[in-house]
Amino acid sequence: MRVAVLVSGGGSNLEAILQAKEAGELPGIDVVLVISSRLDAFALQRAERHQVPTAVIERRAYESEETYQKALLDALMQAHVDIVCLAGYLRKLGPDVIAKYRGRILNIHPALLPKFGGPGMYGQHVHTAVLAAGEKESGCSVHVVDEEFDHGPILAQRRVPVRPGDTPETLAERVLVEEHKLYPKTLREFCEKL
Ligand code: GAR
Repeated sequence: MRVAVLVSGGGSNLEAILQAKEAGELPGIDVVLVISSRLDAFALQRAERHQVPTAVIERRAYESEETYQKALLDALMQAHVDIVCLAGYLRKLGPDVIAKYRGRILNIHPALLPKFGGPGMYGQHVHTAVLAAGEKESGCSVHVVDEEFDHGPILAQRRVPVRPGDTPETLAERVLVEEHKLYPKTLREFCEKL
């Protein structure tokens, strides 16, 4: 299985996948491409350290959303990608990319979907909303991507407690530890079933 990981930021989930691969925990899975929506994403340095080819495809370099999405699709197809993993990727995939890879795009979200998902719910915003709602627990979800934000079938989740005195930062940190376990494991199980 040829996997592309799409990133926009720190890339700690990318790192978890690459480390799982190097530890022999992802047999038959190769990360063949990392695509970043931002030139300054630290995730790019992580990819380079693991000798994974990278591409930067920034929206501002394209005249329209359509040409941007076409560049993304072209990059995936040129690399003969089978599976796309979104790992902190903050742009929405266009209908052509979703149609081409339908059922083969995974996303990790830092909450227990279907709660606390949807437009604007990313990164610290999610944890702020969880705390504001007075939730007793949170967690992370890996799901299959469809046309709606954070919406497709949920494949797996891990839970963490919300502790008294938690801030969005402390909660994010606790959830992220679980994300790093959940994403490689779910990717492996998903590929085994294909
Ligand atoms: C992760 O917490 C991921 O779940 C979240 O962004 C962070 C990326 O961290 N994704 C979303 O909020 C998507 N809606 P990373 O770049 O260190 O992997």
